[in-house]
Amino acid sequence: MDLSIVIPSYNERDNIRHLVERIHQALDALMIDYEIWFVDDSTDDTVEVLAHIVEMDEQVHVYHRDHARGLASAVVAGFARATGEYIIVMDADLQHPPDLLPKIYKRLRHGSDIVIPSRFVPGGSDGGLGPLRKFISFAARSIGQVMLRRLRRITDCTSGFFGFQRKVVEHAALDPIGWKILIEILAKGDYRTVHEIPYTFLARDAGESKMSLKEQANYLRHILRLVSQIPEDRRFWLFCVVGVTGVVVNIAVLCVLKYTLAVQDVFASVIASLAAMLSNYIWNDQITWQDVGTQRKWNTKLPLFVCISIVGIAITTLVMHTLSSFFVPVPIGQTVGILLATLWSYTMNNRLTWRD
Ligand code: GDD
Ligand code: MN
Repeated sequence: MDLSIVIPSYNERDNIRHLVERIHQALDALMIDYEIWFVDDSTDDTVEVLAHIVEMDEQVHVYHRDHARGLASAVVAGFARATGEYIIVMDADLQHPPDLLPKIYKRLRHGSDIVIPSRFVPGGSDGGLGPLRKFISFAARSIGQVMLRRLRRITDCTSGFFGFQRKVVEHAALDPIGWKILIEILAKGDYRTVHEIPYTFLARDAGESKMSLKEQANYLRHILRLVSQIPEDRRFWLFCVVGVTGVVVNIAVLCVLKYTLAVQDVFASVIASLAAMLSNYIWNDQITWQDVGTQRKWNTKLPLFVCISIVGIAITTLVMHTLSSFFVPVPIGQTVGILLATLWSYTMNNRLTWRD
């Protein structure tokens, strides 16, 4: 089998027939062996519509789940049944234009591991969404892109329309929450090349969207779970949390030294910073990089950590100073400096201090 189209459906009675017709129109000219798998959780007569199509059309298959709900889990169930070398996922409501299928298929044939029709590359459009949905969708994508490194270069990481080579998911333990199966694949899949091609997300003709507030909350839970499951993201965010605890330690020690021990300000400040550095080192060693099997002893790791932190302080000051000569206010310059210094320290500690 060359290609499997996997389609999640929930109460789409007025869309299914037309969709199947349009898929045949788009793909028949390619002369390839393809199948269509509906994973259906419908509670209305979509079930009968599908049963009828399956009888007439041997390329169409249905896996009906009784009492189950969930877009992403439906798609994963579809992967287990699909036999194609390439798999394309699309919605059942014609908001994802079937005319694009040959182009996606050809891209996959030419070696792309993942192909994503995108609403956000030049030539694409998310015309099928209202302004509120557009804003929520933008916020959701941005959160995903900040939290997970592998989503950063992808403009439409929450798309429900995408294709990939079967091997991308063959060894991935897919276990998504909610709707966004693509972020699960991007975070856990085995791939090198991702290509995005422009398309217009069309308006729905029949039926209505099943997106809900609950699904938006599920999306956030899904992102957090991926952060905890993907070592590189987990380490980076733990490192940031440890950095924040360092600020708390720093201020607490400073106050104790100054107000209860009457230590001079300059000394108090230096000692507080050293205490924070030591505390950060311990937390990072015990938590952030605890799963790394490094052979190094503390008497190598601690000096490395301290040197990297001192360079980080230099970076912060340099950035603040440079920006302030362009009239950027000092607190803003300092914040930018801290962000860059965080990236620097994380990268260097990951490569040197806790290298495995
Ligand atoms: N099996 C199953 N189970 N299918 C479901 C379920 C479910 O619980 N909920 C929704 N679906 C199906 C719908 O029948 C439709 O085919 C598809 O999943 C998408 O649902 P819509 O309700 O049409 O979502 P949307 O149009 O608001 O958003 C879609 O498009 C966006 C842009 O690509 C989704 O695919 C989004 O994830 C995507 O960002
Ligand atoms: Mn839709």
